[in-house]
Amino acid sequence: MLNRVTDRISTFEYMAYPTPVTPMPTRTVLYSQADGKLFLFSPGPFDEATFKELENMSSEIILVSPNLFHHMHLEKSFERWPLVAIYGQPALWKLKKQPWIKPYLRDIREIHTQLNTQMKAMFIRGIPALAETVFYDSDSKTLIVTDLMFNMDSTVAFGTRLLLSAFGANNKLAQSKLVRMNTKDKSAYKSSAEKLLDLDFARVIVSHGNLVEDAQAFKVALSKTL
Ligand SMILES: [Fe+2]
Repeated sequence: MLNRVTDRISTFEYMAYPTPVTPMPTRTVLYSQADGKLFLFSPGPFDEATFKELENMSSEIILVSPNLFHHMHLEKSFERWPLVAIYGQPALWKLKKQPWIKPYLRDIREIHTQLNTQMKAMFIRGIPALAETVFYDSDSKTLIVTDLMFNMDSTVAFGTRLLLSAFGANNKLAQSKLVRMNTKDKSAYKSSAEKLLDLDFARVIVSHGNLVEDAQAFKVALSKTL
């Protein structure tokens, strides 16, 4: 089932299992562009009903792996739609479970060629293990973030709370220490994050946790990572 956020943006929620005892609420973000293209950021484990719903929305679906962590379900969508474009970091095909992707993968740095001018792709530099691209829709003033920031609440399983606590992201709007530990070039990261702070957004859709409707709170939390 899809949840509508704005006229053009919807989400699909599912549970990921980094370990069997740490179910992690996770989100796919869908962007229906005015020209008919449907972008799926972090495609999830769609069921048959959702696949059909997506097919009814568009005949031109584009799969996007916005960082090097959110790629696990790409293959299932590609099996369903073998002719669609896939965008991701060039390093994605080298990842253990994704060698199949090499002939099909398009460089996410070229995704702007598919996007209308109001949807901007912004690469976060300095964290090569994550290599996240953030998206900003100036029409609806929506920022789409994958793992750069979490906004988890206390409703998750006990094991998940323990895991999140270990990474400094339990029951709060924060960046996971896993991201911080993997930040190799702090000044490059800082200049990328500062570009996000300059944006005029009203909401942030994160992949893990609640939608953020308080843009200032997001900016304060992001500022703490600089
Ligand atoms: Fe994630």
